[in-house]
Amino acid sequence: MPTSKSSLINLSQYSKQKIEVLFSESLLLKSTKKSRASNGIVPIRKIAALLFFEPSTRTRFSFETACVRAGVHPLILTGNAGTSLEKGETFADTIYNLEAMRPDLFVIRCNSTLDLNEITHQLNVPVINAGWGSASHPTQALLDTLTLFEKWNTLEKKKILFLGDVKHSRVVNSHLELAKILGYQIGVCAPDDFLPSQDSLKSFTYFKTLQHGLEWADAVMALRVQKERHDSYEFNLQNYRKSYALNSQNLLGLKADGWIMHPGPINYGVELEHEVLADRRSLVLAQVENGVFLREALIRNLLKE
Ligand code: NCD
Repeated sequence: MPTSKSSLINLSQYSKQKIEVLFSESLLLKSTKKSRASNGIVPIRKIAALLFFEPSTRTRFSFETACVRAGVHPLILTGNAGTSLEKGETFADTIYNLEAMRPDLFVIRCNSTLDLNEITHQLNVPVINAGWGSASHPTQALLDTLTLFEKWNTLEKKKILFLGDVKHSRVVNSHLELAKILGYQIGVCAPDDFLPSQDSLKSFTYFKTLQHGLEWADAVMALRVQKERHDSYEFNLQNYRKSYALNSQNLLGLKADGWIMHPGPINYGVELEHEVLADRRSLVLAQVENGVFLREALIRNLLKE
């Protein structure tokens, strides 16, 4: 039977040791990629159903690539267009019907109308959460920390500053779970409208100004302004850009050996200026590269259990 146990919906189910094994396996896959490629195509043994009910570029392509490299054939459904969702079939019914075709794994991105925990309990195959509403995005948090682990060898006592739309970010929520397991600290700097509730603010170190936050941080993660999740917020681009966007000038305030990150997609000229990508401390594309190895290691692990 399956098994919410072998699925990845929330990071709180993972131990530090399990995550560090996953990191080592990801980095081993990275260092052996060339020799593995020259040994030819990996034979396809299993099938993964990739259901992306919400938009995605990086995460979907990353899971597809990871599947192919792991010898798992990805079958992909993106958005509602052309599916029976357009005729009123629910997400849950779609998933049960696809399960009847016996895939070996589900990778699901969806909004919060679907209860991923609940559906995972009903299914007979593992499920990977590929971004669930504003609730969580565990593989993004794992690939972010893998990228820092590759640089630092540990996350213990490190300080990561999250900048911008913290309130609507599922990435931050997964980092909150992961920080407790791996022992890093989370700082936030955001305008009032983008701060989480007073209660969850207690889990963060709050910085009123970007300058103070950058002085504190070992790494800074700019977050996309998530317009699609704002109900009625009047966004003042000029003010936001002046106080919260990363640019080459304010990044003089980040440590010389600090790191600059963004989960993507980037709104250039909103939370980050284009020039930042040329900063030698930018890990933005390293995050994307490592994401594939992290997901390949995870898929191999889940299908082995
Ligand atoms: C993030 C997401 O979808 O939550 N992006 C991603 O998966 N690479 C962040 C975002 O959309 O801003």
